[in-house]
Amino acid sequence: MTAAAVLRNTLLAITPELPSDRAAVEALVLAAFGPGRYAKTAERIRERARMTLGLVARDGDRIVGSVHLWAVKVGEVPAVFLGPITVDATCRKGGLGGDLVAACIEAARQDGVGGVLLVGDPPYFERFGFLPAPDAILPGPVDRRRVMWLPVTAPVPAGPVMPVA
Ligand SMILES: CC(C)(COP(=O)(O)OP(=O)(O)OC[C@H]1O[C@@H](n2cnc3c(N)ncnc32)[C@H](O)[C@@H]1OP(=O)(O)O)[C@@H](O)C(=O)NCCC(=O)NCCS
Repeated sequence: MTAAAVLRNTLLAITPELPSDRAAVEALVLAAFGPGRYAKTAERIRERARMTLGLVARDGDRIVGSVHLWAVKVGEVPAVFLGPITVDATCRKGGLGGDLVAACIEAARQDGVGGVLLVGDPPYFERFGFLPAPDAILPGPVDRRRVMWLPVTAPVPAGPVMPVA
């Protein structure tokens, strides 16, 4: 990414997702993950959990980033489940993904939940303080090395991950 593009990314507004953003967000996620996304175990959580936060990054009238948080419990610990997180391929490596993760962590702090759970690539998420959470058990097959936890008020939990409607 060019220096000009990095500068532009730092100026992009991250704002709540609106109902009218839905189609653009779906297209962004589809481009990043493909239709196989719906087979993922994480999707089994999302289809039954209450969305607590949806954020988008806008470049003019174009949606170039998106992230969601979902209400869950891990064992008895209230938490939020992060994902999917997506940045448009033309806008990556300019800090936007990091800004979206930081906004989610701040929202989790304000909500007072125990922490933020996700299934993702450890080399990306550990820079934000995410820790391995192999004993958080999702409702389906998952590579347990990719299950991670960002502590807010609770240490890394163990137990079944249950969607909260
Ligand atoms: C992951 C994603 C959201 C990051 O967005 P971004 O705006 O590029 O993020 P940032 O600018 O904050 O960080 C970029 C850095 O993260 C690294 N990175 C991105 N994805 C990574 C991954 N999966 N594993 C390890 N490092 C990764 C980049 O190489 C870059 O490193 P650098 O700073 O040394 O150049 C974006 O690459 C994306 O949408 N990917 C496709 C969807 C996806 O994989 N989502 C996450 C599920 S694990």
